[in-house]
Amino acid sequence: MVARVSIVSLILLVAGGCGVQQPELADCTAYVAGGFRKIAEDRSQRFLGKVQEDTARCRGGEKAVALRGTPWTDWQNYWATADDSSKAPGPSGDHVHLSPNGRGIDGALLDLEYQRIELIKFNLFDNNGTYEQYVRGRAGADGPALKVWEQMRLAKSNPYYAAVGGDGPQLCRGELIRARTLTGICNDIRNPLMGSNGQLFARNVELDATFPELGNNELVKNRHGDRLGLQNPDPQVISRKLFTRIQSAPEKCNEGLGLPGNSPQASCDYKKAPFFNVLAAFWIQFMTHDWFSHLDEGHNDTQLMSTGCAAQLDGGVEKPLTPEQVKQLNCRPEDRIDKGYVAAGAKPATFSYGGKEYLSRAPKTTENKNTAWWDASQLYGFDDISRRRVKRDPKDPAKLLLLTERAGDAGGYLPVLQASDPMNPQWAGQEATAFPDNWSIGMSFYHNVFAREHNLFVDAFRKQTAATPDQDSGLRNPANPDRVIRYKDVSADELFEAARLVVSAQIAKIHTTEWTPQLLYDEPLDLGMNANWYGLLKDSPLVAEALEKVVVNNFGKSPDAKRATQWYSVFASGPGIFGLGNHVYADDPVFARFDPKKKDLWDIKNPDHVNGGVNHFGSPFNFPEEFVTVYRLHPLVPDLIEFRDLKRDANGIRAKIPVVETARGKATQAMHEGGLANWALSMGRQRLGLLTLQNDPLFLQNLPMPRLSSGSGKIDVVALDIIRDRERGVPRFNEFRRQYGLKPLRSFDDFIDPRLPKDSPERAEQQKLIGILHEVYGQHRCDASKVITKAQRNDDGTAINDCLGHTNGTMVDNIEDVDVVVGMLAEFARPHGFAISETQFQVFILNASRRLFSDRFFTSSFRPEFYTQLGFDWVNNNGPEKMMEKGRPNGHEIEVMPLKRVLVRTIPELADELAPVINAFDPWARDRGEYYSLQWKPRKGAESDEAFKR
Ligand code: HEM
Repeated sequence: MVARVSIVSLILLVAGGCGVQQPELADCTAYVAGGFRKIAEDRSQRFLGKVQEDTARCRGGEKAVALRGTPWTDWQNYWATADDSSKAPGPSGDHVHLSPNGRGIDGALLDLEYQRIELIKFNLFDNNGTYEQYVRGRAGADGPALKVWEQMRLAKSNPYYAAVGGDGPQLCRGELIRARTLTGICNDIRNPLMGSNGQLFARNVELDATFPELGNNELVKNRHGDRLGLQNPDPQVISRKLFTRIQSAPEKCNEGLGLPGNSPQASCDYKKAPFFNVLAAFWIQFMTHDWFSHLDEGHNDTQLMSTGCAAQLDGGVEKPLTPEQVKQLNCRPEDRIDKGYVAAGAKPATFSYGGKEYLSRAPKTTENKNTAWWDASQLYGFDDISRRRVKRDPKDPAKLLLLTERAGDAGGYLPVLQASDPMNPQWAGQEATAFPDNWSIGMSFYHNVFAREHNLFVDAFRKQTAATPDQDSGLRNPANPDRVIRYKDVSADELFEAARLVVSAQIAKIHTTEWTPQLLYDEPLDLGMNANWYGLLKDSPLVAEALEKVVVNNFGKSPDAKRATQWYSVFASGPGIFGLGNHVYADDPVFARFDPKKKDLWDIKNPDHVNGGVNHFGSPFNFPEEFVTVYRLHPLVPDLIEFRDLKRDANGIRAKIPVVETARGKATQAMHEGGLANWALSMGRQRLGLLTLQNDPLFLQNLPMPRLSSGSGKIDVVALDIIRDRERGVPRFNEFRRQYGLKPLRSFDDFIDPRLPKDSPERAEQQKLIGILHEVYGQHRCDASKVITKAQRNDDGTAINDCLGHTNGTMVDNIEDVDVVVGMLAEFARPHGFAISETQFQVFILNASRRLFSDRFFTSSFRPEFYTQLGFDWVNNNGPEKMMEKGRPNGHEIEVMPLKRVLVRTIPELADELAPVINAFDPWARDRGEYYSLQWKPRKGAESDEAFKR
């Protein structure tokens, strides 16, 4: 992102010198003349998303200056970063850099790039045994520039041990590097084990800041006293008081069970996001099932534990709940859940370096049972057991098996699990697929859609084969690289694996360029996310060319930490991360963009070409525990789905179907009854739940869990969200923010959105919720002599202490104790169009980039040699051919987005309904209006849609 902005800043500097007559430009000159902020050398000097007064004025005028005192990041107050009302008078848009609006957007992008650079610098902590090397470096190279680790070698017990080199240097080759492997080995050909199933979750916070419940060091004890524990504060009490959806007509909701016969008269209140639909909620559940799981075949350790409903604060003292209080709270003391697996729980080794003591790993670690790669493993499998559930079509083994079970539905549906399939009894009746846990109508939907897409790609390939059997398919076998593989030579297995690569890349593209820009619906994020995929310089080849000349050294190969990480991240935003290193030109850096005029030297025989585009920034890739935390997005799910019938009347709601009645095996049944088209329409038109307090689904608080044989037979998934984070030692909210380079809060009142008028109903609602936070987490008398963190310092350079700036000995809020899942939902102040909070977003900035940067198949191995030429083009064009959207949505010329294309292809009945839709995750009948509007009003033709009457 900086590339665009540094050029912009030069323009600004010149303009400042020319004395342009705008009041804020004096401030712009001052800040540009002051030079760019240096990247922090020490974590306590981090950027924190806060800028100087003149910078704020230059980019956002007085409004931005006025809000500098809040803990929230400044960029959200710059010009043009929200809807039309955020624009300054005058020109705006992508290329009007000098205007206030241009400065606002460029400034926001610059701030976001600073955050990414500092996150890469300060927030990578591996648990697999490489952390000491990260700190010390190795053989003359800085730790963050390391690329290969002993710990990422295959063990003797691995069936591919000999194939990758056994005891000698290990290098994946031949068949092992052709496609995504089942267990995820050999994505990085020099680090075979990285990202494979069973690798340990990483951390994004300092290792000694994890597990505050254990009170392992002085800072943690000072921060939390003796107030924390797995059950403290009580998880079910938190769930019932702070997460329960309040109902205006409880009898019409029936705790999420609706009314008999799925009557449309049923109604469950929930707070709705006007710009994001239910398809988006289930999309992210579908993604998490690809990325990570702590559970093994749907269960945890054998030992059971309580989930609370035992005690609450009363006058500042914790007291057991009375039976009346239990009844009033509607919680269940007899609920039980299986304890989480722990991979390593013994005390970790320590080492010292530069006069400091370090832990070599977190006090406890857990395994990611999935492959960490974005490899569609939820569809195709991540180990032998999950693969056995994946059925191939015996008539054409390149295809997935789809059985046509609905009249008039040509596409077909996935088969149901058979008794012979490996399965957990509670999955009976569900579709047979690799990741079957927590199955819902949404999972059924996406698994069927992408199985159809897989097969459509195979059909297109077969058609091409029939037309040009002797033509080069582009595919190569690295074991026999010189052999041209013609279309007619491609085997069913080869085609199956190529289709998996194509589907995985499409999913990553949908997530990066369609889902995320709608989750974070504003201009800076739209540009930023597209930059991750296409690059900021997509439309500026001349600038790109100039930039490539400047980048004379290959940062990716540098042993210097700064070059290998900071500069790499900055310059990668020019060409984009996707496809980095997939062309090699003489004397050009890894950042070279495709140029048909130059000879492409990329060679499958050269391991440096195959693997050359990846960068792990010194820390082997896996998701951190903290990433799982911020994906606990259960409030997105409504209790009732508003079911529609495409053929009869898309605007009418025919039934209100409880989500719990469309879970597990019932999902499959509901899918077969309703059909993909009607479920797509229903979930596409309905708004999802806002990620905020008192907005969790009632059905998830009362989810039947017969497998546990507990007294209640149920589990409160919301309470479980809290307990699991505590089990995994996720720091509590304020320290979490400090660790991630965001400002902490001083009291619960800081949560209230400072932009709201004093007498607004929204402020009154927020104040009410803050009152409950007080009740649940309480206060304590502070002691200014107790230092509570080393992650940050106060603005004046002093240590942050227990009083958080309040007078010594006074009562202060226990803001340090707030669980992250509570704090992130209590962040009422958010950037425009953000369905998530800025704390969650901060975690995404780092990890969303990393899962692209680290994956060879999204960087240097995104090549026809692996994908086939047809597959390579299919990913680039969002299907068989490129299609452009009409008009300029939000001021940009855009391609028809990839999920919209997939839906029209796999469910052709939706073509008319989707025609006016720009982004498949925006409610389909909403009028998108002008420039990032969040209005809830119907588009033409949908005026009678009942969803707009409420
Ligand atoms: C019908 C819908 C859903 C059901 C029935 C459901 C159920 C559950 C249950 C029972 C767990 C607890 C597993 C455990 O720790 O023992 C869980 C965990 C989780 N859920 Fe959901 N969920 C649903 C939707 C969603 C959605 C929409 C998201 C969005 C991202 C989501 C994200 C997660 C995450 C991140 C975890 C933690 C997984 C882990 O610890 O590895 N869930 N869910």
